[in-house]
Amino acid sequence: MLFPLSSKIRPAAETRDRDAFDVRPSTTLPPKLAPSQSAKRLIQLLPEADRVLIVGSTGDGKSTVAKHIVEDFQPCRLLICDSKGEIKWPGAVLVQTPEQITQALSNQQTIRWVPATFEKKYLEECWKAIHAARGPLIVWIDEAAEHCKPGWCPTGMRLDITQGRSGDSSCGPRLVITCTQRLAECHPAVRTQAEHIMVMTPPPAEIDLKAIAAHVRRSPQQLEAELQQLYDRYGRYSHLWYCKLENDMRNMAPIPL
Ligand SMILES: Nc1ncnc2c1ncn2[C@@H]1O[C@H](COP(=O)(O)OP(=O)(O)O)[C@@H](O)[C@H]1O
Ligand SMILES: [Mg+2]
Repeated sequence: MLFPLSSKIRPAAETRDRDAFDVRPSTTLPPKLAPSQSAKRLIQLLPEADRVLIVGSTGDGKSTVAKHIVEDFQPCRLLICDSKGEIKWPGAVLVQTPEQITQALSNQQTIRWVPATFEKKYLEECWKAIHAARGPLIVWIDEAAEHCKPGWCPTGMRLDITQGRSGDSSCGPRLVITCTQRLAECHPAVRTQAEHIMVMTPPPAEIDLKAIAAHVRRSPQQLEAELQQLYDRYGRYSHLWYCKLENDMRNMAPIPL
């Protein structure tokens, strides 16, 4: 087996003790758990092949949250779409061409793709190479608005987001984590497919509040008020975590670094 480690994705959430993760919904601030424990413990609830969307402005801590989730799933084969070329991951193999992506996905454990350009043709080819890889795989798309637009998404990226939720599909299982500071400029699949939506404090721009509010079953005003309340209490890097399947919104204190 090429990846003795990568076949290990931790057990599905149902097999874990859900009662152990008791955090009160955001309407009843403060969370029952000590804030510093909440994020770490909630990550344990995340199933292996979900779609996670993390929304916030630059510097709000999106990549840090994504990194903590990814770290919790290690060891697992990982592809980081490092749009800004600034993610540090020890031992990650740097790739730029579609050929390098294909090669690395066949024999490397951790791969960091720093796009050479954001031209459509190049992105299509690179995402085709990514989607062709078999799971288990974690795909972490940092700054997704560089990769797609409201009316356009590379086919491979769209399929990565819409498929691969189980080991039965040829590309699955894959966990896809998407970070963006400009949600309204991303393809709708990024938000419609997400089982987990995290919104960083302070509240984002109105256009992004409007783009995300319906997906967390709130009005933009309600969402803004909840984010502001959380920010006032816990400050920077706090965030809301919406679990779509349970229709459950949770307050998350900053992840302790
Ligand atoms: N929970 C946290 N506690 C303390 N510092 C944090 C936390 N999250 C992020 N930071 C710091 O804030 C800066 C920006 O974080 P980053 O995750 O890169 O933000 P983004 O991806 O949203 O631009 C980094 O220097 C990081 O160390
Ligand atoms: Mg970032």
